[in-house]
Amino acid sequence: MSRFRKTIVACALFALAGVVGAQVDTKYPGVGRAATPKEVAAWDIDVRPDFKGLPAGSGTVAKGQDVWEAKCALCHGIFGESGEVFSPLVGGVTQEDIKTGRVANLRNSNYPGRTTFMKVPTLSTIWDYINRAMPWTSPKSLTTEEVYSVVAFLLNLNGIVADDFTLSDKNIRDVQARMPNRNGMTTKHSMWPGDEFGGTKKADTSNVACMKDCAAEPKLASFLPDFARNAHGNLAEQNRGVGAQHGADTTRPEAKLGAPLTVAPAAAPKADAPTAAGKAALALLNKNGCTVCHGIDKKIVGPAYTDVAKKYVGQADYLVGKIKLGGSGIWGPIPMPPQTLSEAEAKTIAAWLASGAGK
Ligand code: HEC
Ligand code: HEC
Repeated sequence: MSRFRKTIVACALFALAGVVGAQVDTKYPGVGRAATPKEVAAWDIDVRPDFKGLPAGSGTVAKGQDVWEAKCALCHGIFGESGEVFSPLVGGVTQEDIKTGRVANLRNSNYPGRTTFMKVPTLSTIWDYINRAMPWTSPKSLTTEEVYSVVAFLLNLNGIVADDFTLSDKNIRDVQARMPNRNGMTTKHSMWPGDEFGGTKKADTSNVACMKDCAAEPKLASFLPDFARNAHGNLAEQNRGVGAQHGADTTRPEAKLGAPLTVAPAAAPKADAPTAAGKAALALLNKNGCTVCHGIDKKIVGPAYTDVAKKYVGQADYLVGKIKLGGSGIWGPIPMPPQTLSEAEAKTIAAWLASGAGK
């Protein structure tokens, strides 16, 4: 552990114990301050498989249906069945699975697709994930009651609880005991079984951290086979354009270990030299996070820019308005939320689109 991380952990522990308000770190004077208990609480929202961390509360299937239809159905489908934005959440589980705790369809190669509820063994994961990450466009906006309710609704859609069920911190363990794939979790095999590593098939998740006499060079213990690299489409186009982490460009072979990473940002112009207008527009698309939802020549959540350009040749004024206000119904049911970019930025992008979205 680095000294920096030790300090952070020490600060967090102090704050957790409620020992401090805002206290100066004496070991590194002048460097920051300890987090306050409130600050730690805002981050400390994880709900664990034993439901440690789950806030008290409850929610009904009926209320969950309202939440779902208002905030979730547009991306995941009315019945959680849509594969348009992400893999379907609902379907593929049976009453027999609820008895056995293993989803039979996972072994049925004729069954089309793998839904969330076919795979997930722990209900805490569903609760935690929705609480921290959904709706995709405004994470952490749901109240505790809304999270309980919408989880209850998803459980109901999967036939795990009845129509009049109220999910709460009191009965969530009983529901966990009905999760269709609760016995499906295993850490005993490697993710990509095969002979790549001499057929050991040992899970790379069950390693023990070396504490002394550690080998200086890490030993490669697993890797993604080439055939699986692009299995879910180009990750670079699916990750946020902002922040430190970008998806690898999975359309290209992986960079050799140790070699500098040559990952292109999601909407980077291709090989031929870009024009100044194209460059400016692409920079603004990246800066404003537009590339999270739009590919240049590929539909993601929203339409490809080349398709938008074809539809609105010469209509820059119309596009400025749409870029700022968003809207829905033209390319499909999924709405585009209003964007916070400046008028000048919207104009630059609109002009580029109206003139063909070239490089
Ligand atoms: C704007 C589109 C959008 C909306 C609205 C939305 N989601 Fe999602 N949801 C996604 C995307 C995209 C993912 C996959 C995200 C990822 O893997 O990074 C996802 C993933 C999930 C998952 C995880 C599935 C899995 O197997 O990993 C759950 C559960 C979920 N959403 C529930 C909800 C709920 C409940 C709501 C409403 C409160 C909601 N979503 C609203 C787009 C959306
Ligand atoms: C959360 C996802 C998301 C983000 C972020 C986003 N868009 Fe969109 N955008 C969409 C969707 C979905 C549509 C299709 C809406 C429709 O069918 O009317 C769309 C449509 C559009 C259209 C076509 C509008 C029309 O009337 O046909 C333009 C232009 C556009 N977006 C530009 C942008 C720009 C520029 C940005 C960044 C400043 C941006 N979008 C950010 C999802 C998004």
